[in-house]
This record gives sequence, C-alpha cells and structure tokens, in this order.
Amino acid sequence: MTQDELKQAVARTAIDYVVKNQIIGVGTGSTANFFIDELAKIKGDIKGAVASSEATAARLRGHGIEVFDLNDVPEIAVYIDGADEIDNSGAMIKGGGAALTREKIVASVAKQFVCIADGSKLVEVMGKFPLPVEVIPMARASVARELAKLGGTPKLRLKPGTEEAFVTDNGGYLLDVSGLSITEPKALEAQINQIVGVIAVGLFAARGANVCLLGTAEGVKTLKF
Ligand code: A5P
Repeated sequence: MTQDELKQAVARTAIDYVVKNQIIGVGTGSTANFFIDELAKIKGDIKGAVASSEATAARLRGHGIEVFDLNDVPEIAVYIDGADEIDNSGAMIKGGGAALTREKIVASVAKQFVCIADGSKLVEVMGKFPLPVEVIPMARASVARELAKLGGTPKLRLKPGTEEAFVTDNGGYLLDVSGLSITEPKALEAQINQIVGVIAVGLFAARGANVCLLGTAEGVKTLKF
C-alpha cells in the first residue's frame, strides 16, 4: 500500500468517530484532506465544521460543508487531524503544514482528539521531524537564540522556492527546530511556551491525542491513550 492509500484508509475509519448532528473540528494537511473528502459523503449527518486553517476552510466549503467561526461554537465533540510524529503516550509533533496554532486552539475546545496518521508517524522518541514553533516576526531572532539554548537548531521556514519568510494564516513566522530528542514532551512544551515572542509550539503533549488511527499494511490499528 502507498502512503496515500494508508492515509485514505485512516481517513475512512475516522468517519466512525464523527458525532452526528454536531460541529466537527477539522485539521490540516494531506491526511486531513482525505478525511474532509470522506466527511463530504456524510455531510447531511453533521451541523458543520470548525476549520484549523484557511486551506481546510476552503476545502470544506468546496464540498458544501458549513464552516463555523470558533467564537460561535461553545464546544466541539471531536477534533480529527493528522500528525508529523506521535509517540506512545499520544503526544504529537504537528505543524509541518504550518497550521499548528489554529490546530491547537481548535483541539483545546474539543472533547476528543482523534489523530489519523500513516504508520511511519509513530516513533519511540519524537524530534527527528523538526519541531515547528510559530513566532511573532519581530521576535524571530530572539526566540531562535532561546531555542538554541535548549539544544535545538532553529531554521526559519521559507516560502517554497524563495528566500522570503513563510507567513502563516496568523501573520506569524515559523522556526523549524531540528536536533531535539523529546523525551519529556509536556515539560518541553511548557518551556517553549514561556519564551516571549512564541505564538505556539507544535508540541501537542498537554493536550495530546485520545485515539490514534494508524494506517499499516496489516490494516488500521487503533491506539488509545
Ligand atoms: C499541519 O499543520 C500539520 O499539523 C499536519 O497535521 C501534519 O503536518 C500532518 O500532515 P500530513 O497529514 O500531510 O502528513
């Protein structure tokens, strides 16, 4: 099976976690896109969705699914999203698709977080995938110095094919931090959150996944945390 087929399989399985007549939190990225396409098939069963990025909002609307402003939604039954890495405690690195801050906000309001990922995303210790940190542009260099003190090597994310900084949906910049071995995700998340100028860190440990649907050659495995 290709990686895309594995992503599609978990996206299909995630439909079982969609709560009927509710507003669903929807993540960002290629796996989330497969999920949106599946969600479209049962769109009559849900009230609508809250999107974690402009790209996701556009895809949902393209399928005729109503997109709600999070400020108008008191609670979300379930949030469904991909991950760049996930460990055995349900902690994740996210933000490869640049949407980490809104993903974190929507996830914080959700009762349940269902992570959908292909099997390659499950790791013993996170950190091989560079950890994305969204920052206020004027704090790019000062935050980078603090991240270097934690043992990481931060690199400013650029717009593909240019020398210009990539700008997020929130007007922030992204520092991708390589060289970290994340043995204590909750502690590192709290530490990075304390750095002045950080908007959000792509470590989802304090609010990790409740369930992970993992696509493998043997089928979709369900991990519960
Ligand atoms: C988006 O910002 C990310 O958090 C994605 O959830 C993550 O990068 C996984 O993306 P894929 O599903 O494309 O692998």
